[in-house]
Order: sequence, then structure tokens, then C-alpha cells
Amino acid sequence: MAKYSNQKNEIKEEEIEQAAQEIKNGNLVLFPTETVYGIGANALDEVAVKKIFKAKGRASDNPLIVHICNIEMLEKIVKEITDIEKRLIEKFWPGPLTIIFDRKSEKIIPNVVTAGLNTVGIRMPSNKIAKKLIEKAEVPIAAPSANVSGKPSGTNVEDIIEELQDKVEYILDGGSSDIGLESTVIRVENNQINILRPGKITKEELEEVVKNVQVDAHVLGKVEKNEIVSSPGMKYRHYAPNTKCMMVYSKQKEKMINKINEITSQVNEEGKEVLVLGRKNNLEKYISKKKWNIGENLNEIAKNIFTLLRKVDKENVDLVIIEGVGEEELGLAITNRLIRACEYNYIVL
Ligand code: TXA
Ligand code: MG
Repeated sequence: MAKYSNQKNEIKEEEIEQAAQEIKNGNLVLFPTETVYGIGANALDEVAVKKIFKAKGRASDNPLIVHICNIEMLEKIVKEITDIEKRLIEKFWPGPLTIIFDRKSEKIIPNVVTAGLNTVGIRMPSNKIAKKLIEKAEVPIAAPSANVSGKPSGTNVEDIIEELQDKVEYILDGGSSDIGLESTVIRVENNQINILRPGKITKEELEEVVKNVQVDAHVLGKVEKNEIVSSPGMKYRHYAPNTKCMMVYSKQKEKMINKINEITSQVNEEGKEVLVLGRKNNLEKYISKKKWNIGENLNEIAKNIFTLLRKVDKENVDLVIIEGVGEEELGLAITNRLIRACEYNYIVL
């Protein structure tokens, strides 16, 4: 059973110190970041990092993000920092942006972290507890999202305590994650930014730094068997509840609502039950008996969605229909998570 920090958002300095000591001892710590919770280990300690893969049941070919607290740590790990990367760091760090760099030839970070790739994903979190934990541990911290592989990422301790409490030495409870979706993951190549995983830092914001920003085809497209992907995480089943889910989206709100009601009545006619997840203002228009509020705007939806996806299996319905949000700004990141939760079962009108 893990040691557990006292108070949400009022974690004491000494508790962070204890957690940092566990990192130094080669153990795992569950900690908050501004995006989602992470399960961290000393990124320089191969044996410790292996414990993360075991705790999550994570495929060994899926690399971890390395979390740092200053630029000196970055310089020790990466081969070079290009001008574009410098500008991105200046604008977005600390914050929810992971940049994939080439690794130094003398490999400071062990191969388990990067799944043997010549690149390494690095980010500097802005969450104060995360920042202090790295500072006090005095080493970079490798950390994937806190969840058993395949499940939605943990955005508060209540959601994940059951599945992870026996697998970590220390839990730092920082309350609900501010953002609720994982960081934007990018790679800069040939003066162009490729978005490998969309997140809070949007395509539109990245375009303020470099005009040419591409969204990887697999962000919204399905990965076929044996297809080569730019980021191993794209291949795996993600976020999907056991209950069948589908996403329905149209730019025209009425069209979307009508379609959702049409599907609901078809399913009801078969004697089956539907749960609709929609924006607060739309809920009264749905004929389904069960409906949940996902939030009023993109920021709220991002914050709520993983917790809601974790709860749907408890409802014992036959189908969950989720309102889509489009692909603009934070919508791209939410859509990327939703279509995976729905296992690509979606309708765009
Ligand atoms: O917000 C976040 O990024 C959270 C918090 C804890 O920092 N972490 C997180 O980690 O979401 P994880 O492991 O759940 O997702 C990392 C993603 C995976 O899809 C992985 O394949 C990709 O980043 N990735 C990591 N290193 C990579 C690399 N060198 N090249 C390509 N993709 C990489
Ligand atoms: Mg994850």
C-alpha cells in the first residue's frame, strides 16, 4: 500500500521530499501534472523504469516521456536544440508540450525509456508539485499517464487509486488536473512541426511559431495492422470503455441532435438503453432517459471527459452516444481521444 500525501493542493514540502526520496530509491510515485497524473520513476535508472511498464501493463515498444525542471537537464539528454525548438521552448515551457528530440550518442537515458529509439520525448511540466518533485529528486523523471494501459488517463486520484495504489510507493494528491488531456506531442523536422498527439497546445498556437504545422495522419485516421507509425502510442487501444460507444458530430447543432435522437429511438425499439453525453445546453433536447453533461465549452469537456469515460461502464447501458466537438483548437485533441474511446465508431454529418 502506498504512502499517501495529506491534503489536496496543500501538499507539504516534506511530503514532496519523501516522494522525491522514493524516486531516488528507485521506486514509483504517482504525481499530478497540469495535463493528467503521471506514474514517475528516475529516468536514469533502468530497473526503476521497468517497474512502470510492469505497473501499467504497457508494451515495451511504447516509449515514455521524460519530465525535466530546467534546461540544463535537457542539454544533458539531447543531441541539439534547433532554433525552432528554442522558440517553442521559450513560448510553451513550462507547460503541456512534449518535444521529440534526437538523443545524444552517449545514451544518458536508458533504452527502456525510449523503447530503443534514437529520439526521446521531453517536457517541462508547469504544475508546481511536479516541478518541485523533479527538483528535489534531482533527476529527470520518466512518466507515462497514470492508468492501466488502455484505460483513460487519470485526472484525479479517486479515479485511479484502486488500479494503482498497490503499484506505487507514494501518491501525491494535487486535486483535479487543470487540463484533463495529455500533452501535445510534436516533432520538428525540416523546419516543419508535426503533431503526433494533439493536446492543449493547439495547431493554431503552434502556427504562431512556425507556419508549417502538419497533423499526423494517424491523429484522426485509423492505424492499420503492421502500419508504421511516427509515435508508437498511436498503435494501441486507448480510452475505450467496455460499453459500446459512438461519436456523432455535425457543425449544425440541430442535425447532430436529431441524428443522436434517431439512433436512440432505434436502439430503444430493440429494448436496449442509451446514455447520451452532451453539452449542458443540449441535454434537454435528447429523448434518451439517461444523459450526462460533458461541459459547456472545450476546456470543460477536456477536463471532464476521462472521468466520464471511466464511469460509463457502471451504468449498464447498451450504447453510449457522445457529441463530437469538431477539430478546431482544443477540439482536435478531444476528437482524437473520443474516436479512440469509440474505437473509430463515429458519424460526421
Ligand atoms: O501529458 C502527458 O504527456 C502525460 C503526463 C504524465 O506528462 N504523459 C503521457 O505519457 O501522456 P504517455 O506515456 O501516456 O504518452 C506518451 C506518448 C505515447 O503515445 C508515446 O508513444 C509518445 O508519447 N512518445 C514518447 N516518446 C516518443 C518518441 N521518442 N517518439 C515518438 N513518440 C513518443
Ligand atoms: Mg497514456
